[in-house]
Amino acid sequence: MPSNPQPLPSRRVFASLLTVGMGMAALAACTPENATPSPIAANAASEVPSPSASPSALSTSAATTEPEPIEPVASAPSSDVPSATAPSHAIAPQHSLTDPTSPWVVVNKHRPLAPQDFVPADLVQPGVRLAVSGEAALLNSTTAAAAEKMFGAAASEGVIMTLASGYRSYSTQVATYNGYVTSTGQAAADRASARPGHSEHQTGWSFDIGDGAGACSFQPCFAEQPAAVWAKANAHKFGFVVRYPWMLHDTTGYFYESWHLRYIGVEAATDMATRGIATVEEYFGLEAAPDYL
Ligand code: DAL
Ligand code: ZN
Repeated sequence: MPSNPQPLPSRRVFASLLTVGMGMAALAACTPENATPSPIAANAASEVPSPSASPSALSTSAATTEPEPIEPVASAPSSDVPSATAPSHAIAPQHSLTDPTSPWVVVNKHRPLAPQDFVPADLVQPGVRLAVSGEAALLNSTTAAAAEKMFGAAASEGVIMTLASGYRSYSTQVATYNGYVTSTGQAAADRASARPGHSEHQTGWSFDIGDGAGACSFQPCFAEQPAAVWAKANAHKFGFVVRYPWMLHDTTGYFYESWHLRYIGVEAATDMATRGIATVEEYFGLEAAPDYL
């Protein structure tokens, strides 16, 4: 059964608003639509890097590109925040939740990849606009095909997406995560980057998108870019979910990543969207995984 995270946003989030002051104004300006004055979590001032600051490791290697930590800084409209405290909506598994070749594999802080050094056997480069090269431009074959359809549909509506970070090997994740720890400290790193052996990117089922205009990549303000807005509204039609939704870090373990999409299949993704279920943890009836065990 899924656990019941605290109601969102929590009282501590609002309480801390009073202590943050103007220093968060720039970050608040980059929060998603309808974001109102900036309640942030306790200790956020020390945990949130500048929205413009990226770990130094990220500027040197496209293959290790990794999202920037996003501290939830504002309450979204209630309709935009599916409840993580609702009764279980769990469905009966049709695919393995543990086999990394399964479209329903759930990898999180409680569920490391097995084997730890898993490499998808069917990595391919999708025929989409690329913002990266090398292994980061690869996806497993099912995800690649779905991405091609989604990018094409978006383009037909005038929205240009780029593939900003796809497959990541275990060794790449080592470098990515360590870069984060060096730049931001371990606590902040663990809200933005998976430890090696715990990243969905290693499965080939996930990738990060960029906007055609290149704006706000891996930053909070990406949520307002056309690619992110389109993906949020339409990705499920192609089998994708926004894997780390707004304000559900107590379930997923990570702050909002409006760029990180995960393939679970059209039927399941559409079912989640229709029923307003925001996390795969809840959908599959798994416990919340806010922290490593
Ligand atoms: N940024 C996600 C959580 C990853 O590192 O896989
Ligand atoms: Zn990602």
